[in-house]
Amino acid sequence: MSINPYSALAETVPSVLIQGFVLLMLVLILFGTVIQMIHHKNITYFFNNAKKAKLSAERELGTGEKATIIAKTVVHDIATTAELGAGKRRIAHVLGMWGTILFWVASVVMIFCYTSSETATPTLWPMMWHIGAIMTCVGGYWFWLFLRVDVLAEAHPWYRIIKADLFVLTLLACATFGLAWSYTQSLSLENRWDDKVFLILYIVSNLALFGGVYWSKFAHMFYKPGAAIQKNLAEADGSRDNLPPLAEAPKQFGLGIKREQPKHY
Ligand code: HEM
Repeated sequence: MSINPYSALAETVPSVLIQGFVLLMLVLILFGTVIQMIHHKNITYFFNNAKKAKLSAERELGTGEKATIIAKTVVHDIATTAELGAGKRRIAHVLGMWGTILFWVASVVMIFCYTSSETATPTLWPMMWHIGAIMTCVGGYWFWLFLRVDVLAEAHPWYRIIKADLFVLTLLACATFGLAWSYTQSLSLENRWDDKVFLILYIVSNLALFGGVYWSKFAHMFYKPGAAIQKNLAEADGSRDNLPPLAEAPKQFGLGIKREQPKHY
């Protein structure tokens, strides 16, 4: 876990090629997200809705107040995926989200700063990369095998795959094959071939994850924070996205609501 897998790779593949691959992935994210925004018109809807809500605002928020609300939203709602409530779903998401962030940040740092033969990689980065990949696997497989709505509520078998699974599956493939590649490469035996197989699978899964942004749920990591900030600002200025205020009455749903988790959609 303390070996930088990319610096070992850079002994046979020029580091500019590895760095070029990362840049290509960034271009693919940008391209996929922009095309998706144009095609799904979700950003147009979002801004039209925000503009409409502003008309029913009860008061104007000051810059300081806005900044405080945004900071609170980032720390609470976004960093801990608060909209998922308390429970397994939120823990699994936080593990996967932060695992992926650690994995990606460490990848970029190791690829751009520590792939030349003269520089040794500080142990922190490969540690962060491996721990991030393991966290992604724990959160992601937990979600995929047990928490997915199809599996938990609709009782479909875990191996039933639909287009909406593209994001979580390619994300898991990247973390899994990345770990397998790093492990087999670190064994450094003569005439190994399995590390090359895992490297190819790792490359293919990255191409599918980043090349599939347009078709997958990838861009929710950009939309969700925007929507959370908008929702909290709309609550503070009284516009509440044109929704009625909460009733000042006790919540009485009858005893039936306690019988079973609402999980039949
Ligand atoms: C690096 C950033 C992120 C990663 C890697 C990530 C990963 C994932 C994955 C793999 C899923 C399951 C998708 C599926 O239904 O197949 C998911 C769902 C979800 N994500 Fe994220 N996410 C990220 C950021 C965020 C952020 C910032 C928010 C909200 C502020 C968010 C909110 C959600 C919600 C509400 C779901 C639905 C969860 C469920 O059905 O249990 N995500 N995310």
